[in-house]
Amino acid sequence: MSDTLSPAGSDDTADDAARTATRGTSDRVVPRVAAPVKLRSSESGESATGNFYEQIGGHETFQRLVELFYRGVANDPVLRPMYPEQDLGPASDRLRMFLEQYWGGPTTYSERRGHPRLRLRHQAFKVNPEARDRWLSHMRAAIDQLQLPPLQDATLWSYLERAAHALVNTFEE
Ligand code: HEM
Repeated sequence: MSDTLSPAGSDDTADDAARTATRGTSDRVVPRVAAPVKLRSSESGESATGNFYEQIGGHETFQRLVELFYRGVANDPVLRPMYPEQDLGPASDRLRMFLEQYWGGPTTYSERRGHPRLRLRHQAFKVNPEARDRWLSHMRAAIDQLQLPPLQDATLWSYLERAAHALVNTFEE
């Protein structure tokens, strides 16, 4: 679970593999350095570079995502009362900063809020399956409006879906 919710860059497996040194026949240490991977969608297409945050359009995209999402929350009779502040702006900023950090953007979230500890921070709220499904339906509608390429859409969605399931903290109605 901590994997699902921990920030980008915390999985060092690929780096470790790239740094692994093997001994050649001459007993010399030959470093194995992984070649950078270039992804192209077609022969003439630009290569896809940058981390996921950059690939989907950086700050602007995340800003739009949370704006669209909170429009849905604002009209949701179950979710809206859960948000303690009258103004949803600060909550929207916190979610945006968290997602930006998670996907490899600025680390402003942790600078301002410390370790995310999302399970703990959601403990005060009744996150039952209904709340989760409503949260996810507003998120799905928001992502649909971003019109991301299918791969990025699926990547973002599968993370959010798993994270939302991991945050359920009660089955009481
Ligand atoms: C499963 C349904 C969910 C519900 C009902 C829910 C509800 C809430 C509520 C009521 C707050 C307090 C608003 C605030 O003051 O910031 C909050 C905060 C937050 N939520 Fe959720 N949430 C859900 C899922 C998620 C998911 C899946 C993520 C991340 C992937 C997430 C990330 C956050 C973050 C980053 C904060 C602000 C934490 C802080 O720094 O205080 N939430 N959530």
